[in-house]
Amino acid sequence: MTELKNDRFLQALMRKPVDVTPVWMMRQAGRYLPEYRATREKAGSFMNLCQTPELACEVTLQPLDRFALDAAILFSDILTVPDAMGLGLRFTTGEGPTFDKPVRTAADINALGVIDPHAELKYVVDAVRLIRKELNGRVPLIGFSGSPWTLATYMVEGGSSKEFSKVKGMMFDQPELMHKLLDVLAQSVTEYLNAQIKAGAQAVMVFDTWGGALTPRDYREFSLQYMTQIVDGLIKENEARPVPSILFTKGGGAWLEDMTLSKCNALGVDWTIDIGDARKRVGDKVALQGNMDPCILYASPKRIREEVAGVLASFGKGDGHVFNLGHGIHPAINPEHVEVFINSVHELSRQYH
Ligand code: CP3
Repeated sequence: MTELKNDRFLQALMRKPVDVTPVWMMRQAGRYLPEYRATREKAGSFMNLCQTPELACEVTLQPLDRFALDAAILFSDILTVPDAMGLGLRFTTGEGPTFDKPVRTAADINALGVIDPHAELKYVVDAVRLIRKELNGRVPLIGFSGSPWTLATYMVEGGSSKEFSKVKGMMFDQPELMHKLLDVLAQSVTEYLNAQIKAGAQAVMVFDTWGGALTPRDYREFSLQYMTQIVDGLIKENEARPVPSILFTKGGGAWLEDMTLSKCNALGVDWTIDIGDARKRVGDKVALQGNMDPCILYASPKRIREEVAGVLASFGKGDGHVFNLGHGIHPAINPEHVEVFINSVHELSRQYH
């Protein structure tokens, strides 16, 4: 295996000392980059881009060629898992993701099986292997998956949703059926993440984008329980290094203490909580990843630097911080502002280490 030239992201996740705070961005490979739009055009469709390892690799590396990022994230999507389960995923412009065959009944759910990542999702495993090779030790590679609850919202609703009426209807009226769906998803996600780790992913992140739509009690029962099951089943060490895990529940700021009980290594936090307060609450149990509001990137370079300074000051001195946005970068952001953001994190954080 090639030696890792920049491991500050992995060190920070394990709460080990670093020279400057590592930084990466959710959705760092995406439509705000003209070179992404060109490759996406060449691929013909978003799914084709995900399913062609050479193209997925190309767009994964694009943001690293422009910015001093400390990690790469596999280019794929969380919805490849339900697609692999046979739901028929499509991305239509303007409409977002939709499934041809949403799951609505006991018969639909009983028909689902645990996926074999080396069969249906071979294209992802191949992409991970290729990206690792092309990265050649520049920075670590992050693998990822959606959380069972977040995947279930798309599978039951048939696409994106604001109200979650169908999926919450099922959860409240047929909790056992919902648990059956979440369990098959948790087993699938565990297999999927472990396949990514074996293929070369050096850290893994679980995106629980919609956990924050639940009550505290339902969050523990229907989302956190299954993320805990996943963390429990993950490969913890590979290539003689720990493989850290990150849980990100958007809107989950009230539940950080509960989330640490999952034994994950780090928690992703959105911008609705102060990262200094979050640090006081989780203590030395986990590292924190976040949490600048992505809309700050619409502001001036001066304002972006001030905001970076504010987040760093709030976290304070010491280890265990990975800088990130509180959610994905928007397609309309000017790449020059991203450069200001990334460089500011490195320049302004040295004094805290
Ligand atoms: O972070 C990265 O750079 C890696 C790539 C990545 C994508 N999606 C690429 C993508 C990751 C980690 C995701 C995760 C994902 N996908 C989540 C969880 C994180 C979050 O944002 O909350 C969710 C909920 C999805 C589902 C999804 N994928 C939706 C709702 C959409 C449509 C909305 C949109 O932004 O267009 C997508 C499409 C998608 N996934 C795009 C990209 C770059 C845009 C598609 C395009 O290029 O046409």
